[in-house]
Amino acid sequence: MKHIINPSRRRFFAQTGAGLLAYAVLPSWLQAMEGMGEMPKMAPNKASPNFHADVEIDLLCKPSTVSILPGQPTRVQQYFAKLVKGPANTLTEIPGSYLGPVLRFEKGQKIRINLSSELDEPTITHWHGLHVPALMDGHPLYAIDKGQSFVYEFEMLNRASMNIYHPHPHNATASQVYHGLVGAILVNDEEERRLELPDGEYEIPIVIQDKLFDAQNQLIYAGHMRDRMMGFYGDRILVNGRPDFSLDVASRAYRFRILNGSTARIYKLAWEDNSPITVIGTDGGLLETPVHKPYVMLAPGERLDVWADFSGRNIGSQLVMRSRSFSGVLPKMAERMMGGGMGGMHGKTLPVGSDYPIFSVKVTRQVSDSPALPGKLSTYKHYQISDTANPIKPVPIAISEGPMAMRLNGRPYAYNDVLPSERIPFNTLQLMEIFHTHGGHGGMGMMGGMKHGGDQQMGGMGMMGGMGGGMGMMMSMAHPIHMHGQSFQIISRTLEMSGGEDYASVKDGFIEGGLKDTLLVMPGESVKVIKPFQDFKGLFMYHCHNLEHEDMGMMRDFLIE
Ligand code: C2O
Ligand code: CU
Ligand code: CU
Repeated sequence: MKHIINPSRRRFFAQTGAGLLAYAVLPSWLQAMEGMGEMPKMAPNKASPNFHADVEIDLLCKPSTVSILPGQPTRVQQYFAKLVKGPANTLTEIPGSYLGPVLRFEKGQKIRINLSSELDEPTITHWHGLHVPALMDGHPLYAIDKGQSFVYEFEMLNRASMNIYHPHPHNATASQVYHGLVGAILVNDEEERRLELPDGEYEIPIVIQDKLFDAQNQLIYAGHMRDRMMGFYGDRILVNGRPDFSLDVASRAYRFRILNGSTARIYKLAWEDNSPITVIGTDGGLLETPVHKPYVMLAPGERLDVWADFSGRNIGSQLVMRSRSFSGVLPKMAERMMGGGMGGMHGKTLPVGSDYPIFSVKVTRQVSDSPALPGKLSTYKHYQISDTANPIKPVPIAISEGPMAMRLNGRPYAYNDVLPSERIPFNTLQLMEIFHTHGGHGGMGMMGGMKHGGDQQMGGMGMMGGMGGGMGMMMSMAHPIHMHGQSFQIISRTLEMSGGEDYASVKDGFIEGGLKDTLLVMPGESVKVIKPFQDFKGLFMYHCHNLEHEDMGMMRDFLIE
């Protein structure tokens, strides 16, 4: 899509400092002039002399090449970071990987990140999971061009947790993440430190992705409408950017910090020997107590903190983490057509929901000492429905699926299209409900957008398709719904129709407790969550973290005011 904006208007907003909020509340005649959905460009943020950073990082996005498979190196897009100021352990490179270095921060730190780009397309970086001001959140309005830079300044308010940094430009998030622009953020705090969890060489980040390579080892990415509708699926699993990932360990406990960095693929993680997975944390940090699961579902954008204890295992013993078989996350129509999932149409196959290895662990060192799993991990306040500002009127997040469109609240993404239900009073706790609608795509409101660009056009067709309810059911699929800003708590998951075998194949893999920012919503499921909207006003996105869906417009903004 073209970015066309009258330069004098752009300057007007920059000079008056009216900024982001001005756009959200533009009078309607001005909005009409802008054209719905066209993304204006805001002036990049500059360093503030009053912000005294404890940590400062230069972060560069640029095209690069990396050897992934034997033979020819692969062209990728990559984050490069340089520590300007702060503790030496702030940056940890992952050797031989296209992934960005692991960024390690401490709660309370003041952080400045100077992002610059050498990409030939707009980009902007988002700190997935971090609670930062709207201006610092990587909204696509702030995308920068080649040669430009954007300065982020924020204080780390998050508790100890694993988070993600990745691009968030309009309509191009998936492709940039797929081509390599993603990295892990680890936040530490006092509460976590007291537990003396495995750290240093015993704390291992594990970023799981799937890719598709051509015969010259180059990445193939989605072109088809089908790839956008279902999400794009590769046939090679990479961990930390490496194929056939294998880890040598000592016979003791480890902490695996797992992140699903795929654009669409959902995993059902399980140890091959059927020993339970011990989960100590999720997206927003540590659970109150460890939980033991036969398997864990991990959707794009979700994180998992796993206690992996190899003590008592002999040298030479091996353990494999697999994705086990499951069904029901893709539309029935597609599952039938593809013989059990996507991944089959490029000649090779790795269907979603098939059974395949992800990485292996090999015990190569015997040690006598290993830390014990703490019984109590953390405390956090449990939100009650009675604490919310809207106990009987949850904020709706309606998922709708049409043959050519995936939508939230019936409308495609537009930066200047906040619905009344998307205006959230500042400093409140909100009850929210995520659910599926079938048939009916939110009325005529979106007709206005139909004449601009391909995406709106698809929205229009989706609306028509969605009208025939039966079709809607056939299109129903799982969506990892992500909300920017503070983490939420899950209050209830309800299945509105019988889920049958499909649901049975995934239902024991959800972590109920803890703090979340990304949540896999299965077909027919309705989920209630409570989310705080504190500290910062402005526009905060929520979207499907199936990144192909996000880019086709399955994204909206909340305006906190
Ligand atoms: Cu991980 Cu809005 O993104
Ligand atoms: Cu995010
Ligand atoms: Cu989706």
